[in-house]
Amino acid sequence: MKEEIAQIQSDALSAIESASDGQTLDQTRITFLGKKGRLTTASAGMKDLSKEEKPVVGQLLNTARSAIMDALETKGRILQDEDDRASLEGLDITLPGQPLHPGNLHPLTQLKDRAIGILRRLGFTLAEGPEIETEFHCFDALNTPPEHPARNEKDTFYFDSGKLLRTHTSTVQIRTMEAQSPPVRVIAPGSCYRRDEVDKTHLPAFNQLEGLYVDNDVQVGDLKGTLEFFYRAMFGEDTEVRFRPHFFPFTEPSFEIDARLQLKGQDPEWIEVAGCGMVDPAVFEEICKVRGDDLYHPDKVTGYAFGMGLDRLAMIKWGIKDIRLLIENDARFLSQFS
Ligand code: DAH
Repeated sequence: MKEEIAQIQSDALSAIESASDGQTLDQTRITFLGKKGRLTTASAGMKDLSKEEKPVVGQLLNTARSAIMDALETKGRILQDEDDRASLEGLDITLPGQPLHPGNLHPLTQLKDRAIGILRRLGFTLAEGPEIETEFHCFDALNTPPEHPARNEKDTFYFDSGKLLRTHTSTVQIRTMEAQSPPVRVIAPGSCYRRDEVDKTHLPAFNQLEGLYVDNDVQVGDLKGTLEFFYRAMFGEDTEVRFRPHFFPFTEPSFEIDARLQLKGQDPEWIEVAGCGMVDPAVFEEICKVRGDDLYHPDKVTGYAFGMGLDRLAMIKWGIKDIRLLIENDARFLSQFS
């Protein structure tokens, strides 16, 4: 039996040596080590051996088996390497690869992040509120009378429940003052909704950024300084900013802000960039009623608020002529902002 084992081992090793592909090698494994393979069959002869011979032959069988398995593995690796090399033939792996385009943030996101970054440096923190709002938070608490056109069903999306899609982020002023005691200094970027016809400058869903600062001695000068700083940081150090008297129900006095900007390929012009003003005492009085305290009593605090359209700012910043580009997800457009 010893000679038989030695013979099987040497036959196996030479068969493995001469195998020229993976399939032949696999066949060789089955021939020698398979269930009905030669070494397996030979092992069956163990049972006829004497007690003394058994361990010796057993040892030989094990050695033969591991020698064959080692050889199979080594040869397998060699064949695989050859295969790999063959499949690379004619391929110049030193050529530069296809460039990867890792993508970039949406221009609106870039603009929003930038605006948040500038205002955070001035001490503002982020606040938020729901997009599905009550009439109270969107209009009443903001001193907007029942007959005000903004409340019209033609302009505002109402739900059957009487709730609505907020038409501006000014709602977050109310939400913030309901929940936090003064002083507050918050900004709230977010989506707003109005029943506007879609055109180059209007979408029924758009984005605003609201600001609110309430403390015991906030003045118009603070408002001007803050917003001038903001627009210079956003559009360049020498950007001129002007405040024009205006009307908003929730601020008194109220202003519209224009910045003198040069759109691509055009002469510089005054462009309206935000609404703002000093929080109307009527708003503070309403807040006191809801809170049931007088921390926001208009004799104790003053404040300013502002609101700006983020889509509009993005369009100005990059000279985007059609707001619809911001929601079409066209990679040819979006990849220009990397
Ligand atoms: N909510 C106004 C709008 O949507 C913008 C605005 C104006 C916000 C004046 C303010 C403000 O906070 O003080 O047109």
